[in-house]
Amino acid sequence: MSKRIGFIYHSYTGQTEKVLTTAEARLKTKDYTLTLDQVRAVDANPKVSEVTLTHAPKVDDYDLIVLASPVHAFSVPIVMKTYLESVSSFQGKPVMLLVTHHFPFKWLGGKQALNALQKKVEALEGQVIIKHSVEWSSKHREREVNRWVEALEGYLSGWVSHE
Ligand SMILES: Cc1cc2nc3c(=O)[nH]c(=O)nc-3n(C[C@H](O)[C@H](O)[C@H](O)COP(=O)(O)O)c2cc1C
Repeated sequence: MSKRIGFIYHSYTGQTEKVLTTAEARLKTKDYTLTLDQVRAVDANPKVSEVTLTHAPKVDDYDLIVLASPVHAFSVPIVMKTYLESVSSFQGKPVMLLVTHHFPFKWLGGKQALNALQKKVEALEGQVIIKHSVEWSSKHREREVNRWVEALEGYLSGWVSHE
């Protein structure tokens, strides 16, 4: 059976999703299946302090997970936080972390959000393999997205051929 990759993500204004669809277009191979699995909530408005999820992707559906999210208020958005609270375990699965953010300095959100995601995933027994942030407003955005896709491709080529 081919390996199953799940892009489990939250995207409020669509930018994180665009990075993932770019990767999806580049990564077509018969060695694995790739699913874009969006966390959905009744109201994803970032101003609310509580959300009810209408779709929480199942970790068990995937062999490798890309967890992707925007940065909100220097940290992880409420929708992604609520989703991670609903996950019981990542059971030793490889997990790549991706955040997109606006501010030009990673210390204005990107770094904290990635660290918070890593802490949570590791507490749930996931193996964080690559952490990456894309500054959406940067003129180097395309290069950053390409670097991330290349890192993912690099991991996948080793992952598929070593089995
Ligand atoms: C409510 C809110 C809070 C945000 N807070 C931050 C922040 O603290 N740091 C940052 O760099 N960008 C921040 N941003 C910008 C988003 O992280 C950025 O535009 C991201 O790429 C949006 O991804 P999305 O389109 O997938 O939702 C914020 C955006 C919103 C809507």
